[in-house]
Amino acid sequence: MRKKIIGIVGCGAIGSSLTKAIVKDFAKEAKLCGLYDLDKHKAEILSRKLSGKPGLAVDSLGRIIRESELVIEAASANVSWNIARAALSSGKDVMIMSVGGVSGRLKQLRALAGKNNSRVYIPSGALSGIDAVKAAHAGRIDKVILTTTKNPLSFKGVKYIVDKGIKLDKIKKETVLFSGKARDAVKYFPQNINVAAVLSLAGVGESKTLVKIIASPGVSRNTHEVRVVSPAANIFTRTENVLHPDNPKTSFLAVLSAVAMLKHILEPVVIGT
Ligand SMILES: NC(=O)c1ccc[n+]([C@@H]2O[C@H](COP(=O)([O-])OP(=O)(O)OC[C@H]3O[C@@H](n4cnc5c(N)ncnc54)[C@H](O)[C@@H]3O)[C@@H](O)[C@H]2O)c1
Repeated sequence: MRKKIIGIVGCGAIGSSLTKAIVKDFAKEAKLCGLYDLDKHKAEILSRKLSGKPGLAVDSLGRIIRESELVIEAASANVSWNIARAALSSGKDVMIMSVGGVSGRLKQLRALAGKNNSRVYIPSGALSGIDAVKAAHAGRIDKVILTTTKNPLSFKGVKYIVDKGIKLDKIKKETVLFSGKARDAVKYFPQNINVAAVLSLAGVGESKTLVKIIASPGVSRNTHEVRVVSPAANIFTRTENVLHPDNPKTSFLAVLSAVAMLKHILEPVVIGT
């Protein structure tokens, strides 16, 4: 089997885990052509961990795009759309982790990928039930609600909370911080941006997907509940996420979901929707 050539953009918790998976678990199916991070030191450290040498670290995004067949973006929502656009325009496939940056751009992604004969992969991330949402959406969905519950301290520094004058350390019982459209949730709660964006892209879009964000003292796991009402099925999923040891803002399952998507891309048998 010919190996798929992969380039990684962003060498943090997700990029590092994917890089290790490519080298250790997918050595027969894939080959790394480079690691790029805004902080070159991080790419060099990761390269040394894998091969004992800094050689895989490259200093330009352009080089990653030129040399890869699949570009994996695991950097930031500020740049994910530009990276996806550049990769797709060069006829390369792209896996996008910073989904908030492409939220609302499904049409553009489809058009670019279609024109250049390339593909876009968006893992489910820290959310279960995306398979069922996709299946239900092949028919009709009447309602989608995402309820996210986190410890109040997870919302520290969020501008929306500061502007509303909410004192997070004074929250003693479950408190609804936001209830509205996914489009506004991703704007006001950047930490929640990926789950709301993935759910919107998989189903009825940002303006029809409803999001409720709750602060609850005493909880240590980021919990996401998805409720879907459709003629085919009523769906309810609940995911209690353990945080990733390398980045407490990222759920462990989101990292594993990216590895599972890679498996989906590289292996000949695909299981699940
Ligand atoms: N889809 C999901 O479910 C999901 C879940 C968690 C995190 N994420 C997103 O995935 C991305 C990566 O998450 P992480 O936990 O690995 O973050 P991280 O902070 O551990 O790592 C991000 C890395 O990207 C680098 N970086 C930032 N901007 C860059 C740029 N313009 N070009 C190149 N490198 C750049 C940083 O230096 C850092 O090393 C984030 O945007 C995060 O929001 C998605």
